[in-house]
Amino acid sequence: MHKLSPKQVRPGYDKGFIDGYNQAVDDHLIERGAMIGVIGHSGVVGKAIYNAFPGSIGLSSKEGSYEEMAKADIVFMAVPTPSKKDGSINMDILYSCMDEMQKHKTKEQIVVVKSTVVPGTNKYLTSNYDFEFVSSPEFLTELNAETDFLTPDRVVIGANSKEAFDKVIDSYSKILPDGTQIVRCKPIEAELIKYYANCFLAMKVIYANEAKTLCDEVGADYDKVKLGVSLDSRIGDSHLSVTEKGGYSGMCFPKDTKGFSDYSKKIGIKQELIETMVKLNKEIREK
Ligand SMILES: NC(=O)c1ccc[n+]([C@@H]2O[C@H](COP(=O)([O-])OP(=O)(O)OC[C@H]3O[C@@H](n4cnc5c(N)ncnc54)[C@H](O)[C@@H]3O)[C@@H](O)[C@H]2O)c1
Repeated sequence: MHKLSPKQVRPGYDKGFIDGYNQAVDDHLIERGAMIGVIGHSGVVGKAIYNAFPGSIGLSSKEGSYEEMAKADIVFMAVPTPSKKDGSINMDILYSCMDEMQKHKTKEQIVVVKSTVVPGTNKYLTSNYDFEFVSSPEFLTELNAETDFLTPDRVVIGANSKEAFDKVIDSYSKILPDGTQIVRCKPIEAELIKYYANCFLAMKVIYANEAKTLCDEVGADYDKVKLGVSLDSRIGDSHLSVTEKGGYSGMCFPKDTKGFSDYSKKIGIKQELIETMVKLNKEIREK
């Protein structure tokens, strides 16, 4: 069986936070493999998961049933979590799917939340629904969704119990390459990892936009400056290109940066860099 082994623990990191697969897993699930379900299986993220697990059960807006989904051992949830007008995140679809899951429940199931969700969602779900929830945010890109899903830089697993962690890692281990880095953490940490990662990448974009504006003004070739900066391996060359319209756009960065800014304001913790970045992107895009 394809397993992630202890040798995959990244050296130098606290083993409490980054951990390789080294636990005995549920024998029953090893024998037959966990039956996988995917809610949102026709979407960008859901399709990548669905295709990675042959024989899995799929459900989307127009296909599939909750009676069938109730047969899965592990259900990956990959439904949209769009922005509301005020920038906050609309969680209604995910909650309505969980209402249906609850109504049709026939056995113990693990729900792995792959959707990008407001930090604290796992806690809310755990106290309102009778399932074991694992937070495992997704980092794939829309352009290479299926390849990215199967060759991730890391997999983040925020579980509330060792049993749930073991079962989810066992499923991942069947499809991911040996050596895949596993970040084992609390659900709230997994939820935050997704937002801090996307906000950081979006910040690189805004940084690059500001750098290019200055370069243009003083007669410097931004591409040369970018090359010289990005060859520093601590910086890298991703997200430093400046598009015609400038700033960042797409399905994820605008939604996630605004959503995280809204979340931090609601909990009363200043995240000024991120708030400023959201403001700057709006200004750039509206020019
Ligand atoms: N697209 C990306 O590159 C990407 C990357 C990482 C994380 N995410 C996150 O993953 C989540 C899903 O994003 P996506 O881009 O795959 O979305 P998508 O719009 O491509 O797909 C959504 C899927 O959910 C289904 N769906 C919608 N409403 C439903 C309902 N009420 N009941 C059942 N199924 C329903 C759709 O039919 C579709 O299969 C979001 O939270 C997003 O932020 C997206």
